[in-house]
Amino acid sequence: MTSRPRPSARLRPGKQKAPARKKPKKDLQIEELLVETGALREQQQALQTRIAELTTANETLKRGEDRFRLLVESVKDYAIYMLDPGGMVSSWNAGARRLKGYEAAEIVGQHYSRFFTPEDRDAKLPEVELERARVDGRFEAEGERVRKDGSRFWANVIVSRINDASGKLLGFSKVTRDLTERRRAEGAMRSANESLEARVRDRTADLEKALKARDVFLSIASHELKTPLTSLSLVLQMGARALKSGRKSTPEQMLEVLERAAKQSMALGDLIDGLLDVSRIQAGRFTLEPQKLSVAELCEEVAARFAPQLSQTQTPLSLSLDRALEARWDKRRLLQVLANLLSNALKYAQGKPVQLSAEKGPLGVRLTVKDNGPGIALERQPQIFERFERAGAPANIGGLGLGLFIARRIVEAHRGTLSVDSDTGRGAAFIVDLPDHVTAGEGGFEEPA
Ligand SMILES: Nc1ncnc2c1ncn2[C@@H]1O[C@H](COP(=O)(O)OP(=O)(O)O)[C@@H](O)[C@H]1O
Ligand SMILES: [Mg+2]
Repeated sequence: MTSRPRPSARLRPGKQKAPARKKPKKDLQIEELLVETGALREQQQALQTRIAELTTANETLKRGEDRFRLLVESVKDYAIYMLDPGGMVSSWNAGARRLKGYEAAEIVGQHYSRFFTPEDRDAKLPEVELERARVDGRFEAEGERVRKDGSRFWANVIVSRINDASGKLLGFSKVTRDLTERRRAEGAMRSANESLEARVRDRTADLEKALKARDVFLSIASHELKTPLTSLSLVLQMGARALKSGRKSTPEQMLEVLERAAKQSMALGDLIDGLLDVSRIQAGRFTLEPQKLSVAELCEEVAARFAPQLSQTQTPLSLSLDRALEARWDKRRLLQVLANLLSNALKYAQGKPVQLSAEKGPLGVRLTVKDNGPGIALERQPQIFERFERAGAPANIGGLGLGLFIARRIVEAHRGTLSVDSDTGRGAAFIVDLPDHVTAGEGGFEEPA
């Protein structure tokens, strides 16, 4: 076996030594030193490589950190900031500036409790928040927060605990989001919902009322129509029997039968006219045909029509008329209004004096029909102008509950008002205020809501 020459041997080529000979101590030391130097060089090399690796890693890390910092800083919709373990602000982003109004320079180093309302500060909420985040690692809540200018906003806040590598508390990160808009939208939605529900409720109540009114109307209408119809057929049967019996009837007797029949059929006709008027009003097919007229003459005409009933019921009617008043109204319709009011006075205040007056009024002309009957309780007054509404009229007094509804619609079509002045036991005065002029074609009715 040939051994490779040792480095020391190569240093001194001229002095060859026997392999068995013991080396001098000095040579040995140099040899060891050389070995060590080589090893050191290798270690140095490895270290340099490691340093280079670490530098690159460090740079990558720093780039990442920078990117992260830039990202956080640029977020505008969220306030993102850091707190030290004691709650002092230690970083601030653009969103925090935008949301809370503080510049980084004026808030970093300040305690974060200033973002709370005084009430929450008194309740130690800032401390509770941090304590919860410290213990649980995270805390989330919604609540009111305060901006630099003192204004308040509704916020969602998330506080997270930040640890160092050994798990020691470094501080907290805080993310705050402004929920004012969301809350406002929720509020708007809620109130829209509520008003929708209220409308549905109202509408349902209206429908139920209308259905009930229709049922009541049907029973009243059939009863009301039946009454004159029964009388009419009785009168006609009586006449026919008289003729069949062969007994001679005087022309006066025959006339009386015919007149009674005519009266009943007129009553029937009036009822049906009322119904037709209501459907015309409902359908919006109701126009005016105005003509020039003397207001006093109009009143006298209606009084004359009622003469038979007035004398029959012994009801005194006094007229108080300003003869100078002239107007352009739909005569037939105005006669209908006054007839409805007078017939009510005769029905509900039978025998007591009734007054019909025409004078100047706030809109031009005021017509008043006043009676001295039982009057109408204040709380019943709004109902009496409704369709088919009889507002507790005595059962023995007939009617469809349409007279005042139709009268008010006619007056309104003339751009006037119909109101009542009355109370229990005080008689009733129905007051028609009208402009003295209405143009043709005016007064189409709108479908009631
Ligand atoms: N002059 C009056 N005195 C007392 N109550 C009246 C008078 N006029 C009207 N009313 C009340 O108003 C209700 C509505 O009147 P109206 O619409 O003319 O219907 P009707 O006469 O068919 O009942 C009546 O049922 C009655 O209760
Ligand atoms: Mg009536």
